[in-house]
Amino acid sequence: MITIIGAGKVGTSAAAFMMVKELDDILLIDIIPNKPQGEALDLSHAASILGKSITITGSNDYKDMAGSDIVVVTAGFPRKPGMTREQLLGKNAGIIADIAEKIKEYAPNSIVLLTTNPLDAMTYVMYKKLGFPRERVIGFSGVLDAGRLAYYASRKLKISPASIVPIVLGMHGQAMFPVPRLSTVMGAPLTSLLSPEEIEEIRKETVAAGKTITELRGYSSNYGPGAGLAVMVEAIKKNQHKAFIASAYLKGEYGFSDIVLEVPLVLGASGIERIIELPLNEEEKKGLAESAEAVKKLIDALPPEYK
Ligand code: APR
Repeated sequence: MITIIGAGKVGTSAAAFMMVKELDDILLIDIIPNKPQGEALDLSHAASILGKSITITGSNDYKDMAGSDIVVVTAGFPRKPGMTREQLLGKNAGIIADIAEKIKEYAPNSIVLLTTNPLDAMTYVMYKKLGFPRERVIGFSGVLDAGRLAYYASRKLKISPASIVPIVLGMHGQAMFPVPRLSTVMGAPLTSLLSPEEIEEIRKETVAAGKTITELRGYSSNYGPGAGLAVMVEAIKKNQHKAFIASAYLKGEYGFSDIVLEVPLVLGASGIERIIELPLNEEEKKGLAESAEAVKKLIDALPPEYK
């Protein structure tokens, strides 16, 4: 069973995509009375219409997640227009620490994915509070950042995003580090296919993507995160050994330790199967170090009980 904690916009979008893919039965948990039950009923009707054979239920009781092999955490406050992900830090750390206790109690063998922002710091809190091996704690976001890079590059190249391998490293936030030289189409780097001006435009659009959506419609993105979560959960459920950009707790990779950063990694039935270290040049190493510094500042700003 897949448990999704937080039946808000991201949680229910993830559930919808997972239902369409028939990945497994889904349980939605939320603290708001009746909300997860209502969302589950609506999604169950959609599953019935689409002819999908999975069960979707809602609950306000964490006990119901017992035995889940995958727990997706989308609980927490989202960004409001004009608000940065960083401002969410204190508010959401408390929620993540509480949820970690429930996961330890009811789903101690699960693989945990989370979207709560600020993502890197919240993944750090989750990892520390769970005490699970790092293979089973995965921060979602890189798939989204990379997907956005592929989208904007695709519009300039007139080549399908599916043919682009996009690389974004570091922090999920304004300090994210897109790497155009290592983002390729059939092995050709974007830097050889586009002008420096076009690449700079793509970089800016990618970094601003979340903010752009929030400003246009008044609330932060949910379909992109929902789709990203669904493909990651699919890779785990089907043991696909598929590579993604996602956030992991690093133990020396790229020269960083005791920090969570977006890196290329491979997902399969046991969670993170390996982390891939890319051959960065000196300038890229510097860019990643600056991005990591922004994450480190957030982790340093966490109250001691969350580390
Ligand atoms: N346990 C369960 N659910 C909780 C808890 C908790 N301790 N705390 C909050 N929630 C629920 C809220 O009741 C709400 O239904 O989490 C849900 C969050 O949903 P939305 O407000 O719609 O937020 P959403 O857009 O889904 O974003 C969730 O993901 O991408 C990030 O920045 C985003 O941190 C935010 C998170």
